[in-house]
Amino acid sequence: MIAIASDHGGFALKQEILSHLSAKGIAFKDFGCYTDESVDYPDYAKSVTSAILSGECTQGILICGTGIGISIAANKVPGIRCALCHDVFSAEATRLHNDANVLALGGRVIGPSHALMVVDTFLATGFSNDERHINRISKIEN
Ligand code: RB5
Repeated sequence: MIAIASDHGGFALKQEILSHLSAKGIAFKDFGCYTDESVDYPDYAKSVTSAILSGECTQGILICGTGIGISIAANKVPGIRCALCHDVFSAEATRLHNDANVLALGGRVIGPSHALMVVDTFLATGFSNDERHINRISKIEN
């Protein structure tokens, strides 16, 4: 189950991603926001990261205008590795190397077609399980 949320700056892109996930039969839980009225992105980072830490969801997608604020907020939470990716190479590399459990996107930065490719790559790529990457991730966590 994918946890997904955005602020108002990411709302339009979130709606595109929801349609895409639905069409592909990928289960998700939408934690808002539900309109384009101004809201605070840290609240949405909290909802998605809590859903991952509780085990309700396995991975998350967070979207704000730039992707920066919401990724900073998510990365304050121990156990969360949130990667801001605006290209397919980074989306693949962060799964292989960092075992990122949240993808952040900037709705005002990336177009929807490219964003959907980034989402697909992030969700389709597994962690490499390489010893050196496991060691490096443990140095982040501890
Ligand atoms: C909201 O205007 C904007 O600041 C927010 O979406 C995000 O870009 C913050 O990093």
